[in-house]
Amino acid sequence: MTRTARAFTNIALIKYWGKKNKQWKLPYTNSLSLTLDRFYTDTKLTIIDSDKDIVSLNHKILNDQENKRILNYLDTVRKLYSFEDHFQVDTVNHVPTSAGFASSASGFAALAGAINETKQLNLNRQELSILARNGSGSASRSIYGGFVEWIAGDSNETSFAKPIDETPKIDLVLLSVVINQQSKKISSTNGMENSVKTSPFYPNWVTLVASELQEIKQAIAKKDLQKIGEIAEHNAMSMHALTLSANPSFTYFAPETIRIIQIVKELRQKGIFAYATIDAGPNVKIICTKESLEKVQTYIEQQLSNVNTVIANIGSGIQYI
Ligand code: DP6
Repeated sequence: MTRTARAFTNIALIKYWGKKNKQWKLPYTNSLSLTLDRFYTDTKLTIIDSDKDIVSLNHKILNDQENKRILNYLDTVRKLYSFEDHFQVDTVNHVPTSAGFASSASGFAALAGAINETKQLNLNRQELSILARNGSGSASRSIYGGFVEWIAGDSNETSFAKPIDETPKIDLVLLSVVINQQSKKISSTNGMENSVKTSPFYPNWVTLVASELQEIKQAIAKKDLQKIGEIAEHNAMSMHALTLSANPSFTYFAPETIRIIQIVKELRQKGIFAYATIDAGPNVKIICTKESLEKVQTYIEQQLSNVNTVIANIGSGIQYI
């Protein structure tokens, strides 16, 4: 039995940053994302006659240390769904030349989809979102296309993503500006845990997310692009304020990150549509319109000589090939 699933990555406009339950990856707050079309993961799963799983990434077999997270995940799924089978997992990440996206969202969504198909679990998309969340929180949202909200919930059964608009007719394009490809020193898992435990502002974050979520959902319904951009940028900066206010403090920003944030503001002063959002790494994703995209890209490339830019449009939900 062999099946292949394809899942696309997503960018959070309202970020998930903090777990109230580590075992089940239950977040403190809802979050909201846009699925993208340029970066995806294909995961092929085969049931094998063995008592060990074999995992390859981009055609290279990984050792147990590199695989730890995937092997733990497969153990969790075997327990949850009471089966004993082991798998060969062949994962290929399709990343346009250095897109600077984390692969856990598309990776665990594709793996969950491939398990569902291979083991014929017949999960609906809500159950699939739960299964993906067990691997990585942000993966819960990659089951769907377009705008997606992950409902925090308070148990494994009640924490899942749901689509807001899977094929939005909205003029938004994302420009990813890649300044550093080195793997990050503090994983998002550890970064959010430190923020929850030590930032005095964490309770304010929970309150802020609740109000920004309501506002951005209204802005999405009205296709108010400026409002969407403003809220997304403010939410991202507030998330990064939690890292700076943690004890000991830390940051994902590199010097170029700050420079790009300034450039985005300069662009707006020139009347060009551009808003920044940043995940747990130094790269900046700029929210543009079709009209502003070229101007933003040209200006960035003029101002900074050593960056790559990658364009992504709105992507779709999980697929089987
Ligand atoms: C900044 O989903 O990678 O990208 O659940 O521990 O695997 P784990 O964390 P992960 O965190 C993503 C953090 C973020 C914001 C977001 O995608 O919402």
